[in-house]
Order: sequence, then structure tokens, then C-alpha cells
Amino acid sequence: MADKILEFVHTSTGKQIAAALGLPVPPMLKRAKAGYAEKSLANSNALVGASAFGPVASAVVKALDSMGASIKVSADLAGLDGIKQAAAKAKVDVSISQADNGVPENVYVLDVTAAANVADLRLLYDFFNPRLRKVPSNSRIVVIGRPRGDCKDALAETAQSSLPGFIRSLAKESGKNGTTANLIQVKTGAENGIEGALRFFLSPHSAFVTGQVLPVVGAPKGVKVAAFSEKPLTGKLAVVTGAARGIGAAIAEVLAREGATVIGVDRPADESTLGATMSSIGGIACPLDITDADAGKKLAAVAAGKGGKIDIIVHNAGITRDKMMRNMAAHLWDMVLDVNLGAIVRCNDQLLAGDAFGANARIVCISSIGGIAGNAGQTNYAATKSAVIGYVDAMAKQLEGKGISINAIAPGFIETQMTAAIPVVTREVARRLSSLSQGGLPVDIAEAVTFMASPLAAGVNGATLRVCGQNLVGA
Ligand SMILES: NC(=O)c1ccc[n+]([C@@H]2O[C@H](COP(=O)([O-])OP(=O)(O)OC[C@H]3O[C@@H](n4cnc5c(N)ncnc54)[C@H](O)[C@@H]3O)[C@@H](O)[C@H]2O)c1
Repeated sequence: MADKILEFVHTSTGKQIAAALGLPVPPMLKRAKAGYAEKSLANSNALVGASAFGPVASAVVKALDSMGASIKVSADLAGLDGIKQAAAKAKVDVSISQADNGVPENVYVLDVTAAANVADLRLLYDFFNPRLRKVPSNSRIVVIGRPRGDCKDALAETAQSSLPGFIRSLAKESGKNGTTANLIQVKTGAENGIEGALRFFLSPHSAFVTGQVLPVVGAPKGVKVAAFSEKPLTGKLAVVTGAARGIGAAIAEVLAREGATVIGVDRPADESTLGATMSSIGGIACPLDITDADAGKKLAAVAAGKGGKIDIIVHNAGITRDKMMRNMAAHLWDMVLDVNLGAIVRCNDQLLAGDAFGANARIVCISSIGGIAGNAGQTNYAATKSAVIGYVDAMAKQLEGKGISINAIAPGFIETQMTAAIPVVTREVARRLSSLSQGGLPVDIAEAVTFMASPLAAGVNGATLRVCGQNLVGA
């Protein structure tokens, strides 16, 4: 469903009316028009800082250089030395920022992994305060910190704990022109996962992701973090449930764009829509109700029939049957629990028991911000979506030794048939009350899922990433 207000305020008449009435104008987000490119930052000036020289500063400099960014530093910044040393070691050129001469940076990366006390947090102010008055639209901000468990003492843990609050506030301040701000918490020793996470966060593939914390914990056992390659899913077999329409169809399209062969699953009643979606991307239609007791075994057989194992599975199919708890019939509870949760658990168990996953397989589940904050009338739905978050966390520990990773995406308000059914006032509030003042599109979820399914997220495991434009409703 289209956001008519967003479209109108970006016409010339709409702009004049909005200006005359002093109405806020939601930004037009710059989304990816094609797959991941090696030199994705070829036209970008990236301002970089670091609280000290170390493996993170080195990884940041190397990553930005391999993306083709022009790396800039502030001449007067305390965090200059760490970056200069990292650049010298990597033989990468850095130059002094020309932002004062009207060439502002559109990428900002600050490594504060060495911040170990309250005074060290001054770097956040020194780095961002002089620069944020003239940030171009759709710019990208990433701060990198450490998880609390990695800190050497309580003071360092306290300093690192400031970062989620800082980034969430910065995201709220900078979203008005489509700029996003996110935090990567990298575990010590997992620095080789930084480039993949930066490639996602610093690109138009993450246009609707802001105010989020992504843990980079390291690849599962036996999995190597591969060097970047274009079309990274070439040769991979991917299953997407609920692929006939909405978010699932977009996921299938973006996975195929990155090279995967997609087996699209949907209810037999939706076979013709599913067939059309799959034929448009050269995929394989698999009409199957995921609540079928043998759904996992049947999917394994379809994959084997294509001569392979399942490299990626995206558990996207989901339903709502909203009723206040006091009025909810038992079958509505059971139905939502089975489609959104029971079917996922059964299917994965069968695929694991049947050895149907390929080496280094990636499982991605779809949660919801409703599962984080809850919604009146959605006790059944929110219970399942909350359970998915716990499930990926628990299963990541179980599957780590098998080289399989599992993560979740929690969508916010996304323009689909599901949200078109929301009453008009609630829908308008849900859209506007986000840092980016709009709902997301199915492709935003598809991009995040594809990131999680790709080698770019080799270091991410057991995580749930919200893709919601930092929505205030349901979160
Ligand atoms: N749209 C949003 O704003 C939003 C927000 C948060 C989470 N989500 C989640 O995203 C996922 C996709 O949502 P959507 O908005 O595209 O929904 P949708 O209703 O447009 O599409 C869901 C698809 O799943 C299929 N499906 C349902 N039950 C099935 C079953 N038993 N077997 C096989 N296929 C089945 C449907 O036929 C449909 O094609 C769901 O898990 C949903 O809970 C959506």
C-alpha cells in the first residue's frame, strides 16, 4: 500500500503546501537499486575516528578502503592517532576533512572500543558535535563498541553501556533527512566480521534500519569469513516460506538478485500467485502448508530433487488473528501459535535430523516489534514473535558447533496487505511515529534478511535486528 502523504509532499505543489503550513516532510529514503557492489563507497567521503589504535581501527580503515571510500580525519580530533596508525599499517591514504569548505562527509564511523571510563566518552562529543550541522541527506553513521562481557572492569563496562543510549538518541536527531545511525558491538577476536556489517550499514541496503545495535560475535565453528564478492549467494539454495506475496515475495526477489536459487513456499490455495512470483525470478514454486506435520521432510525432498541441500531458510510465513485475550477463541490462539512458531521449530528439527542443511547454512526467522513491546489484541501474535527472539538466541548456541548460524529480523510497520488492514488513524500514527517518519517497504525487510543470509553477516549469530525506522509504536 502506498504512503500517499510521503508521495505528495515530494511533489512541487506538496512541498509548497507543507512549507506554508509548517508540516514535517518525511525524507525520501535512498534505497538500493541493484545488488552489493565492491566499491560501494566510491563517491563517499568517510570521516573516521578511533579512541585508540587496535584491531578495530585497522579493520575499519581496511573495510572503508576496500569499499572505495575517501577516508577523512579531523585535523583537531583526539581520536586521530589511532586512525593514522591503522592507515599507515594498511598503507591506506587518509586526508584532512574539508567539511569546513562545504564538502561534508556522508559516512561517519567512530571506533570507541577502547573507551574505558567516563572521560573517554568525550570523544563521542568531539567527533560528532562539530560535524552534524550539515549532514547530507541519507548519510550513514556507525559507532563501534564492545559488548559488556568483553570489558576489563566495571568502569569500562559502564562506558561501553553508554553507547546504545547514545546511538538511539543520535538516530532520532538525524533521521529527519533520512540519515541512519547504528551501533556495532564487536566481540574481541571477531574483528574480521566488521567489514560485512559496515557494508550493510553504510549502504542503501539498510535505508530503513536506524537506532539499532548489531552484535558481531564471530563465525560459527569451521566457517571462514570470506573476502567480499559480488552476487555472494551464487550457487546457494534458499527456501522462503510465505513467498507468494508481501514481504516473502520481496525476500525471494532480493535473495535471487544476489545469486541464490529460491524455493518459494506458500499455501496450496495461493499456488497461482506463488507460481507467478517464482517464475519472475527463476525460482521453484513449492505449494505447501508449513503447518503440515512433515513440512520439513518435504522441503528436504524438494531440495534434494534439485540436487542440493538447503543453504538458507527464511521462516517468513506468518499470520495475525487479533482479539483481546478475554474474547479470544482457543482455535485463534492455536492457529497463530502453530503457524508463527510451532511450524518453524518442527521444520528446523526435521531438516537438522535429516541432515538437509548445507555446510555453513544460515537460518533467518521473522519476528516483529510487536513481539518486543506487545500490542493490545495481539497476545497470541506477540507471544510467537517474542518466542522467535529467544529461539534464535538459544538455537545459535546449539548450532554453533555444526557451522550453522541463526538470526532474526523484527520488522516494524511495513506497507503490506497486513498493515493496510489497520484502521486509518492508527495506521497514520504507526507510520509517522518513527525516526524516519514513514513506514518501511517489503524490500527493506528483504535487504536485512539477505544480509543475514549472506557471508556479510558471517560474524552475526543469535541476533535479532529490528528493521523499523526506529518506530515508537509497538516498540
Ligand atoms: N507487514 C508488517 O508490517 C509486519 C510487521 C512485523 C512482522 N511482520 C511479519 O512478516 C512476515 C510476512 O508478513 P506480510 O506482511 O508479508 O504478510 P502477508 O499476509 O502479506 O503474507 C504472508 C504470507 O504467508 C503465507 N502463509 C500464511 N500461513 C501459511 C502457511 N500455513 N503455510 C504457508 N504459507 C503461509 C500467506 O499465504 C502469505 O503469502 C510475517 O511473519 C509477519 O508476522 C510483518
